[in-house]
Amino acid sequence: MMAPDSKKIWMDGRLVDFADARVHVLNHSLHYGVGVFEGIRAYPTRSGAAIFRLREHVARLVASARIYLMPIPWTPEQIAHAIVDTQAANGIVPSYIRPLVYRGEPALGVKNSTGKVSLAIATIPAKKYLGEGSETGVRAKISPFRKPPSDAIPSFAKASGNYVNSYLAGVDAQKDGYEEAILLDSDGFLAEGTGENIFLVRNGELYTPGLEADILLGITRDSVIRIATDLGYTVHQKRLSVNELLTADEAFFTGTYAELAPIKEVGQYVIGAPGSRPVTSEIMARFTQAVHGEAPAYSEWLTPVPELAAPAPRKTARR
Ligand SMILES: Cc1ncc(COP(=O)(O)O)c(C=O)c1O
Repeated sequence: MMAPDSKKIWMDGRLVDFADARVHVLNHSLHYGVGVFEGIRAYPTRSGAAIFRLREHVARLVASARIYLMPIPWTPEQIAHAIVDTQAANGIVPSYIRPLVYRGEPALGVKNSTGKVSLAIATIPAKKYLGEGSETGVRAKISPFRKPPSDAIPSFAKASGNYVNSYLAGVDAQKDGYEEAILLDSDGFLAEGTGENIFLVRNGELYTPGLEADILLGITRDSVIRIATDLGYTVHQKRLSVNELLTADEAFFTGTYAELAPIKEVGQYVIGAPGSRPVTSEIMARFTQAVHGEAPAYSEWLTPVPELAAPAPRKTARR
């Protein structure tokens, strides 16, 4: 049970108490997985709380909803404001922010493209998704569950139903003693983790699968491509084989919840030289600076939450 330390949840324009954020059990999204959502983080910065890449997350939410014919009755600006308001109402930092677009009214029958579309926004305390592995390296396994091709289920839309695939892969990996699963696309090329994109480092260059691998185009992935390029690395977006992963010098996951997490082992194989990951460490350090407002080059990625601004520094009393 999620700790109700989130006081308020935003539902269709109102901030309601955590315990009152309810929907009908016969709602369409629960039965058929037709809902779209986002995962966003707010970080502490020297000048107060700030939401990382809010604009891009709202844009992806709107794009995901469009694919599923779910017109959100709020503009992107109104959604962004509502997210800031929810963050301010709960005062949780660092937080994980979850906007969800759903059809919440009782309606059975799969072809429901006209029912009322609702928006809910929650903020909960952020945790390290991959636990200790976030720093020391994650043990992952290649999942027996493949990604569905995007002409079956579009991977670039972040739909609730997509996560039955992540669930199967993730639980399978966990039961085998791994922290994460790596899913392949239907042709057997690397795709992504259950909630992360994947990067390889080979001969000082970065490699990550492209959209043809039926991945979610992650916003952290985009941030890492920009940071790595700014640091002078070449980043290739291309099809990648399992063998290229197993023989990589370094590998890491990227995602809003996972942030950047090195991959130290895949199945029985150790990736690279144990404990040595200079490229991953350099990019992780820069990413950490960016999310905490310590890298001016990326300051446009942060949306401040005015109500959670840090108190102004005290003036020294004059003698
Ligand atoms: C399947 C999948 N791939 C990749 C990602 C990483 O995306 P982002 O960096 O936008 O969080 C996520 C996380 O939302 C995901 O669920």
